[in-house]
Amino acid sequence: MLTLARATEVAQVLTEALPYIQRFSGRTIVVKYGGNAMTDEALKASFARDIVLMQTVGMRPIVVHGGGPQIGELLERLNIESKFIDGMRVTTEETMDVVEMVLGGLVNKEIVSLLNQAGGRAMGLTGKDGQFIRASQLKIERKTPELEAPEIIDIGHVGQVEAIDTRILTMLTENDVIPVVAPIGVGPNGESYNINADLVAGKLAEVLKAEKLMLLTNTAGVLNKEGQVVTGLVAEEVQALIGDGTISGGMLPKVGCALSAVNAGVNSAHIVDGRVPHSVLLEIFTDQGVGTQILRKRTG
Ligand SMILES: Nc1ncnc2c1ncn2[C@@H]1O[C@H](COP(=O)(O)OP(=O)(O)OP(=O)(O)O)[C@@H](O)[C@H]1O
Ligand SMILES: [Mg+2]
Repeated sequence: MLTLARATEVAQVLTEALPYIQRFSGRTIVVKYGGNAMTDEALKASFARDIVLMQTVGMRPIVVHGGGPQIGELLERLNIESKFIDGMRVTTEETMDVVEMVLGGLVNKEIVSLLNQAGGRAMGLTGKDGQFIRASQLKIERKTPELEAPEIIDIGHVGQVEAIDTRILTMLTENDVIPVVAPIGVGPNGESYNINADLVAGKLAEVLKAEKLMLLTNTAGVLNKEGQVVTGLVAEEVQALIGDGTISGGMLPKVGCALSAVNAGVNSAHIVDGRVPHSVLLEIFTDQGVGTQILRKRTG
């Protein structure tokens, strides 16, 4: 039997969710699941339940995943060296094969299976399917004091999003299927590109005019110099934190794509701790968000 106190508590939690269910019904919510938050079995199962719950109450979740650690692991087993420039993996043809196998195969199907196991209907795809993510090579520039013009560095099959064809995704979400997207794009000659998953998630949120963009990672959110979570950030504050080196590495594409998404009309963008069980649920269905919200401008 429920005690009265417990019953009141449960009822309170459930009614608190109602306005969010009403507000987000029929709306697209893009969730990026970071490779680093994907290590614990119990966490993976709780993530899958959250996504299926969202879909069951009428929202349209789309999952985009990373897989850095999983790619590194297979490369190591195959004795292929991992090299990074400015936080990006130098991707030779040989490395690209491994990236495609791990992201499009192993990791993608694992998430699909978790969602299906939780009672959802999930389908996995890479940007090559229906050529829905067109990409081009990402050129990185490096300024050196000796050279007048910045040096262009070729890091191989690392791509940037050129265009997204939303029809395939809408076809899935309109039929209550949860799309699970591996961040691989296709070039003009059918070649594969390895794209940072945050950038793919951000672009998808933009072109689909999503309600929310949620980037799950392995930190409590964006941390300040003192190591504390910043609950809200506007563009100028992000710039200052990048300028003094507080935001670096894998956090750079996250804040970048989150800002770009809110400026393009996505209602809210959040960097959330994927190590906390049910962090997606807490972010969507309660008054207290978790992690860092990236804001268009400061209100109130
Ligand atoms: N100011 C900051 N606050 C929080 N994390 C930061 C900050 N600056 C840099 N980081 C780094 O960013 C990392 C998160 O990005 P990372 O690319 O490693 O993970 P991910 O994107 O979740 O996973 P994947 O790249 O596999 O999809 C953190 O683990 C942390 O080391
Ligand atoms: Mg990353």
